Amino acid sequence: MKRLGILLSGRGSNFEAIADAVARGEIAAEIAVVIASRPEARGLETARQRGFNAVSIPSKGLDREVYDRMLLEELHRQKVDLVLLAGFMRLLSASFIRHFPNRILNIHPSLLPAFPGLDAQHQALEHGVKITGCTVHFVDEQLDAGPIVVQAAVPVLDHDTVESLSARILQEEHRIYPEAIRTVLGGHYMIAGRRVIFN
Ligand code: GAR
Repeated sequence: MKRLGILLSGRGSNFEAIADAVARGEIAAEIAVVIASRPEARGLETARQRGFNAVSIPSKGLDREVYDRMLLEELHRQKVDLVLLAGFMRLLSASFIRHFPNRILNIHPSLLPAFPGLDAQHQALEHGVKITGCTVHFVDEQLDAGPIVVQAAVPVLDHDTVESLSARILQEEHRIYPEAIRTVLGGHYMIAGRRVIFN
């Protein structure tokens, strides 16, 4: 059984969607550890309540390389096969990423490569796009740039606020993240350049 390591910083709703999919038997893997970069993250509390192995590794004040080594230690200790970033609001160092080549997934609330970085929903509204969405991608050494596994489109409505748009995107996030994890664990894909091709 493959072992998942989930990294989060806040609310943790994507973690819950993944945990629900695991519980329903839709993802053939187990959640080995949930790691929060902020001790007050709601997702950490939820993970504990649901009986998962949940640890707080606060990043505040720590040098990136030092912090990432702490993360790596915990992930290796738990024999994690696939790392899932679920609202993990930190950049990972190149050395961390090299430990998990094409074995780290991230979810981002835009149709990448549009609107990388922070506040993607705000960026989409500001830009005036009519369609935005969300993306699950492999993590490489560039920000929000690795090969794309799944995307979903979400229309921007005339009366949308950041909150209303974010809520509609989030529904799609909860649908496509488990789907992407299932696909990647299934292993029937290849990465050709930037393209993830399923067979
Ligand atoms: C989600 O919308 C996720 O796409 C976004 O943070 C939110 C976390 O929500 N991630 C990023 O913006 C990463 N750059 P959650 O804690 O409820 O899953």
